[in-house]
Amino acid sequence: MKILVTGGAGYIGSHTCVELLQKGYEVVVIDNYSNSSPKALQRVEQITGKKVIAYQGDVCDKSVLEQIFSEHKIDYVIHFAGLKAVGESCRIPLTYYNNNIYGTLALVEVMNKYNCKKMVFSSSATVYGDPEVLPLTEDCKVGGTTNPYGSSKYFQEVILSDLAKSDSDWTVVLLRYFNPVGAHESGLIGEDPKGIPNNLTPYIAKVAIGQLPYLSVFGNDYDTPDGTGVRDYIHVVDLAKGHVAAIEGISTTGTHIYNLGTGCGYSVLQVVKAFEKACGHEIPYKIVGRRDGDIATCYADCTKAKVHLGWVAELGIDEMCASLWNWQSKNPNGYND
Ligand code: NAD
Ligand code: UFG
Repeated sequence: MKILVTGGAGYIGSHTCVELLQKGYEVVVIDNYSNSSPKALQRVEQITGKKVIAYQGDVCDKSVLEQIFSEHKIDYVIHFAGLKAVGESCRIPLTYYNNNIYGTLALVEVMNKYNCKKMVFSSSATVYGDPEVLPLTEDCKVGGTTNPYGSSKYFQEVILSDLAKSDSDWTVVLLRYFNPVGAHESGLIGEDPKGIPNNLTPYIAKVAIGQLPYLSVFGNDYDTPDGTGVRDYIHVVDLAKGHVAAIEGISTTGTHIYNLGTGCGYSVLQVVKAFEKACGHEIPYKIVGRRDGDIATCYADCTKAKVHLGWVAELGIDEMCASLWNWQSKNPNGYND
């Protein structure tokens, strides 16, 4: 079975390529490397001892998509390609809508033409907005998004669900990721943010290695046990396995929605403590004001994925921090080393 992985050189994509190849799938990648390096795919080949067929190209460019679909019989598409920085999306919303939404439209149009009608789509817990109830189940209200990135995810969910409604041959799997962290146990692939990281754990890792002086903790006055924000962190390898479980576990057409998280919430300060244990020294931090758009608490109910797909996250916060530290210390400058 041949899988097209869009954005396959990225953080979650590269880990998913490893799991797919290790399970015997053939993998074709399209990536424009706007937020990644082709080195990630070389490392995927090094880990698995298997070949990745890679195309440098943009998912908005139908000609390269046509080339791929005419050169390969693609059975399934896993669609990771997209821009994902929340703050940046507020500054350049049209770039985000264009890249994320037009990319998805171009992709499904070419898929339709080549009669490939199975897609797993990278959605996000961000589609739930500020949760009304916790833990979040898949039927909680969606659409109260607070930034163009989140809205683009919500709109893409609507577009893909409408497509599946209009054509009963389509299988659309919307995977709503909670907070992916950590790295492959080999230390060969991991998250390599450009510039100063926006997300908590890559920021902590840069403090731990001495490239940034301290962590700014965004608020300690939330209604949470220690006042800092609580999130459902999930090991990226568990998340990658969730994609394989979705491909293997869903046999009916239509739209299928799953939360992928652990179901456990950890506060910012709990993550700092877990990372200190992993790296063996203190992480300096300062409490500062809240970050605009942040919510207090977010964690998933993942019962549906367990019951339908037989998937559960197996790795905990200590493994997440240890694997991130392993990657960060072996590759202080990411793929530029
Ligand atoms: P990433 O930036 O590491 O990976 C995305 C990849 O897509 C990159 O390699 C980038 O170069 C590529 N890309 C972007 N636009 C493209 C285009 N038009 N054509 C071809 N390639 C393109 O991000 P990630 O963390 O691996 O996220 C993967 C997906 O999961 C994204 O859709 C993201 O929105 C979603 N997601 C991520 C998180 C998270 O916290 N990391 C949470 C929820 C959802
Ligand atoms: N935080 C800090 N300091 C930092 C960075 C983050 O205190 O330097 C705090 C935040 O305030 C929040 C927690 O750490 O309480 C997690 O923040 P992240 O930026 O790591 O993650 P978010 O939950 O804000 O958002 C992430 C992705 C979104 C995605 C969401 C759910 O950035 O794109 O997870 O999957 F939608």
